[in-house]
Amino acid sequence: MRKKVTVVGSGFVGSTTAQRIVDMELADVVITDILEGAPAGKALDMMESAPITRTDSHATGISTNTGDYSATAGSDIVVITAGLPRKPGMSRDDLLKTNYGIVSSVVEQIVKHSPNCIIIVVSNPLDAMAQAAFKVSGFPKQRVLGMAGVLDSARMSAFVAMECKVSVENVHSFVLGGHGDDMVPLPRYSTVAGIPLPDLLPKERIDSIVDRTRKGGAEIVNLLKTGSAYYAPSAAVVEMVESILKDKKKILPCAVYLDGEYGIKGLFVGVPVKLGAKGAEEIIQIKLSAEENASLQKSAASVKELVTVLGL
Ligand code: 2OP
Repeated sequence: MRKKVTVVGSGFVGSTTAQRIVDMELADVVITDILEGAPAGKALDMMESAPITRTDSHATGISTNTGDYSATAGSDIVVITAGLPRKPGMSRDDLLKTNYGIVSSVVEQIVKHSPNCIIIVVSNPLDAMAQAAFKVSGFPKQRVLGMAGVLDSARMSAFVAMECKVSVENVHSFVLGGHGDDMVPLPRYSTVAGIPLPDLLPKERIDSIVDRTRKGGAEIVNLLKTGSAYYAPSAAVVEMVESILKDKKKILPCAVYLDGEYGIKGLFVGVPVKLGAKGAEEIIQIKLSAEENASLQKSAASVKELVTVLGL
């Protein structure tokens, strides 16, 4: 039997995520939206591209404006992209309360129909929304993840590859912390063909890459003017989906519930995680310098502020 992934939200992030999953033949996909018509239209459009792209994964689109999520039943993974995107000048945190309401009501429905699924949250502010999904779902911590570190690390890798004029395949970057302006890119753990960045680039070039990475989401928002990034975010979600569905056990930076790891307790923050069929199967603890640790704690404190506002 084919795997089943539900993607909640048929906006740009949701629909490109669904398209990538179908094109890679990873699973059948159900796209949901409160809009009438849009999810069904996008799913049918994907089905009609399948004879050309040669995929037998099915896409189905449903409107959930009646509150009926039964078509999502038995999903292996549910990706939640629903929520308002950022507008120029708006921080991810401005979205806090509106998206909390949206994510909570979605999770209540998802849990009823797919009690054994793994939830991947993409809605912003990312870490707080993942914490909301965790609390509302009542799922074990292994089955609720936030997508951000893969995206932020991909952005850093793209900038490193541009700077060094090398293949992106040579670059591996590591970004920890919350998905906010104080995320923690780690140059020491970021490499080009295995060579740590500080051995390759002068400090000011690294500082500039770190800064651009932190502002990567806003850079796209300012260019697009009416919406936020979706190609890299959807690629990042699908890397996580693939590692789970194929039980690849890739180590990827994801937002997970920390219970004392990295000295952080009771909070979703981005750290390296082994992703397999059971979800977040292991949290990998790497050694941080005093400065790196201080940055991680600062980033966690920003997440904590949001979570406190929501009373989670
Ligand atoms: C991003 O980083 C909007 O958080 C999203 O592109």
